[in-house]
Amino acid sequence: MYALVYHGPGQKAWEEVPTPVLIDDTDAIVRVEATTICGSDLHILKGDVPEVTDGRILGHEAVGTVEQVGSSVKTVHVGDRVLVSCITACGACRFCRQARYGQCAGGGGWILGHLIDGTQAEYVRVPFADTSTYPVPVGVADEDMLMLADILPTGYEVGVLNGHVQPGDVVAVVGAGPIGLSAIMGATLFSPSHIVAIDLADSRLDAAKQFGADVTVNNSREDPLEIINGLTGGLGADVAIEAVGLPATFELATTLIRPCGHVANIGVHGQPATLHLEQLWARDVTITMGLVDTYSTPTLLRLLGRQLDVGRFVTHHFPMGEFAAAYDTFSRAADTGALKVVVTP
Ligand SMILES: NC(=O)c1ccc[n+]([C@@H]2O[C@H](COP(=O)([O-])OP(=O)(O)OC[C@H]3O[C@@H](n4cnc5c(N)ncnc54)[C@H](O)[C@@H]3O)[C@@H](O)[C@H]2O)c1
Ligand SMILES: [Zn+2]
Ligand SMILES: [Zn+2]
Repeated sequence: MYALVYHGPGQKAWEEVPTPVLIDDTDAIVRVEATTICGSDLHILKGDVPEVTDGRILGHEAVGTVEQVGSSVKTVHVGDRVLVSCITACGACRFCRQARYGQCAGGGGWILGHLIDGTQAEYVRVPFADTSTYPVPVGVADEDMLMLADILPTGYEVGVLNGHVQPGDVVAVVGAGPIGLSAIMGATLFSPSHIVAIDLADSRLDAAKQFGADVTVNNSREDPLEIINGLTGGLGADVAIEAVGLPATFELATTLIRPCGHVANIGVHGQPATLHLEQLWARDVTITMGLVDTYSTPTLLRLLGRQLDVGRFVTHHFPMGEFAAAYDTFSRAADTGALKVVVTP
């Protein structure tokens, strides 16, 4: 088969590799019918995620058809159409039993396209198939389902729920890529008074308005602190969500927050960020961070097509043979307007 293979920082290729086979009796082999690229894949290519080694097939989001199942797989059958989630769950460890699948200690967690071969391929081996896939309901488009593999649960769980967004809140979202936009979309479920999107790219800020932000700030030209202070009588945002993954944007999020507010970091960081305790210690600020668990996937699925119009995420389509162009388009989002690129066989 062909797959998108990582060959060290800045190096990747669409090349021929062995087709995956069942290894454990809880595995499934899924034929990939739609996959996509995540900001985390760009972090890997920058060298920010050193556990990813030369030869690894990238990708942790897919919709496809089950081709084979191991002898212990109970609920997933050959021919089923499934969502392959970015998080794999053994279902039995102490963390899985608390729905903290991202921290799975039984061999799951974020492993696809990270510690084992991923979904940017014609076929993928999915460990713990019963607890790591979701059936695609009849009537739900593959592209819509694909948005549940990572971005929607990430924005919702690590941004909105960890940040404790409440009705009436002023919510600042730093970074309006697919993850920040998912956090904006998820925040609208709680009726905040203002959602302020902050990004360097006007194209992303235009998208943020469509996803529910009522105030947009281009922080290359405008001062987000001044704008947030203007909206909050000088207090600061109730919730500040970091959805970039840079020291500067984490530090910005901590300056925007009111006393007793919540800073929810979503970004994958490759460098240390400074925690300004000298300014924060007396302000009773809660700072959370996290790898997505995907426990909210069933909830979000019920909201698809109703409160959550996810079709607007998909801006570009590519065949798998043009994976290099798909990466190029996604990585130059400020110029191309790309949000999510869908790649199909
Ligand atoms: N915690 C998790 O489980 C999890 C899961 C998936 C993705 N992520 C991370 O979330 C982050 C966002 O992912 P994405 O797919 O939206 O990425 P992306 O690269 O598409 O979007 C990042 C956005 O940040 C903006 N930006 C860059 N520098 C900025 C600055 N100084 N100020 C304001 N905006 C700035 C960019 O213009 C872009 O719109 C990444 O770090 C990604 O790795 C985390
Ligand atoms: Zn991801
Ligand atoms: Zn587990």
